[in-house]
Amino acid sequence: LREHEEFTKVKNIAKIELGRYEIDTWYFSPFPPEYNDCLKLYFCEFCLNFMKRKEQLQRHMRKCDLKHPPGDEIYRNGTLSMFEVDGKKNKVYGQNLCYLAKLFLDHKTLYYDVDLFLFYILCECDDRGCHMVGYFSKEKHSEESYNLACILTLPPYQRKGYGKFLIAFSYELSKKEGKVGTPERPLSDLGLLSYRGYWTRVLVEILKKKHNNNISIKDLSDMTAIKTDDVLNTLQSLDLIQYRKGVHAICADAKVLDRHLKAAGRGGLEVDVSKLIWTPYK
Ligand code: ACO
Ligand code: ZN
Repeated sequence: LREHEEFTKVKNIAKIELGRYEIDTWYFSPFPPEYNDCLKLYFCEFCLNFMKRKEQLQRHMRKCDLKHPPGDEIYRNGTLSMFEVDGKKNKVYGQNLCYLAKLFLDHKTLYYDVDLFLFYILCECDDRGCHMVGYFSKEKHSEESYNLACILTLPPYQRKGYGKFLIAFSYELSKKEGKVGTPERPLSDLGLLSYRGYWTRVLVEILKKKHNNNISIKDLSDMTAIKTDDVLNTLQSLDLIQYRKGVHAICADAKVLDRHLKAAGRGGLEVDVSKLIWTPYK
């Protein structure tokens, strides 16, 4: 019921200011009632506190001493950084991030229970600080083997490969945990496109290298931390699973694989695993 209500509610906040960007919003987000009469909200790009008026933000910026997300920097490669924020230790930050993210996420219900989540914040860093580009959230403990709950690239940064970076990062964390993972459903159209592109690229690249060495769905899943269902669905949708002499076989024709690789789009920004300093949540 709550989900339906959120669907049918009209969009309240039309624009936000965040760092050096003014951004048009996409969907309704359930900000506290006192913000209902605002067309535009002003966010502190570091602590994500939001305000009704520009002057309030300016006053805030003089006092706010954050220059990056709270939490631990777990990845740094050139100007690209990832911070891990524990929703239990940084409750207000987690809630602010959820309010912000909901403006661009349609069929996701808002989690008030940020305690149960870790937030991975991707930043571009310069001499003024680490500026959020996007993020994904992850349940601390998932029964359904979800390794990602919500993913967002802020609109000014979309279509530059950050989304695939975040997806790749979520699987690198799963590999370190020694688990397979899958994104929480439902996926949005853009989410599905991004995941399809990622899965296709990763799987087809392995098949190309292995030639026809009888690799199984399970092998592919073990190597990539992609859940077997997603491996199978991806290969089926690419028409790479064939019946030969009564058994399933994965096609590894070089020309066919090259064609799929081209269609999968660009690779996205690379995750350099040697720069990830992280131990799984306990
Ligand atoms: N039109 C067509 N294809 C697109 C578009 C678009 N506007 N945006 C992304 N894609 C596809 C492309 O295939 C693209 O690869 P390519 O550029 O090589 O062709 C691929 O998705 C990923 O592109 P990236 O640049 O790596 O991804 P981006 O940084 O734009 O982030 C994301 C993708 C996170 C889905 C972004 O579109 C977004 O934040 N959308 C709003 C929130 C959302 O829908 N999140 C997913 C919800 S599902 C979930 O959270 C589990
Ligand atoms: Zn602040």
